[in-house]
Amino acid sequence: MKIQDRTFIVTGGASGLGLATAKELHKNGGYISIMDMNSEAGETLVKELGTEKAKFFEVDVTKTESIQTAVNETAQWTKSTGIELGGVITAAGVGFPGKIIDRHNEPLAMESIDFVLNINLRGTLDTIRLALPHMTQVTPTHPDGERGIIVMVASSAAFDGQPGQVAYAASKGAVASMTLPLTRDIAQYGIRAVTIAPSLFESNMTKLLSNKVRKSLERVMEFPVRAGKAEEFAALVRHCIENSMLNGTVLRLDGGMRMPSKL
Ligand SMILES: NC(=O)c1ccc[n+]([C@@H]2O[C@H](COP(=O)([O-])OP(=O)(O)OC[C@H]3O[C@@H](n4cnc5c(N)ncnc54)[C@H](O)[C@@H]3O)[C@@H](O)[C@H]2O)c1
Repeated sequence: MKIQDRTFIVTGGASGLGLATAKELHKNGGYISIMDMNSEAGETLVKELGTEKAKFFEVDVTKTESIQTAVNETAQWTKSTGIELGGVITAAGVGFPGKIIDRHNEPLAMESIDFVLNINLRGTLDTIRLALPHMTQVTPTHPDGERGIIVMVASSAAFDGQPGQVAYAASKGAVASMTLPLTRDIAQYGIRAVTIAPSLFESNMTKLLSNKVRKSLERVMEFPVRAGKAEEFAALVRHCIENSMLNGTVLRLDGGMRMPSKL
């Protein structure tokens, strides 16, 4: 599917991997609906990209009403521009480490587990659920009758989560697991679903990592021996959109790295 003259929703589009994706799709002729909690960063991005092809919506993906309003307004925008909705990239997410049982024999707080699951898993499902009724109505493109694509963001932690990542791994493993059933639900509409599972990428999220964790990851890197760049993630999103044979799969983007059990 071509990116040009299609509108894309990017959650978490104000920072990191989502931000790089918004810029990449915009550079390739897409119209971008940026949905994020961080209104300052979101508005700054729209100023940079220009208001003709980019719009920011302050959204908390844990709140259905908040997503619904932004999706409806995006749909209105596509009507006024004539640039139909072509995809959703769900990059809003948080990492919030915590061992299931700590050294004081205290179990992980349920608030902490809910926080991660609500943003990474519920927020992803809810955004997709609310965008789909609009995507099923767009004009299919030739020759395959394609209407659009959902690109979800998992993590290496879906497969080799580290100590302290139970909640995060549960959220990302769930995103990876739902890729195929989602694909099977939406194939009849000419909509694809692909999940990208990145390892360590430079972003605001990973700036917060302790030196110990960062070093433990650098030790097990195969090639290249560095964190990924957000632009490299965005390039894969672009390819997922453009290559119609990519569907129903989880793509690891990790330079061959497998996360170790010991930090
Ligand atoms: N950077 C990495 O190394 C890495 C690795 C694997 C997976 N990921 C995943 O990639 C995605 C993007 O992460 P990033 O590294 O770019 O982080 P980031 O912190 O730079 O960006 C995340 C964005 O999500 C937004 N967000 C957080 N909670 C939200 C909410 N409730 N509603 C709306 N927006 C919300 C934040 O405001 C922020 O702009 C996340 O899902 C993350 O789990 C990142």
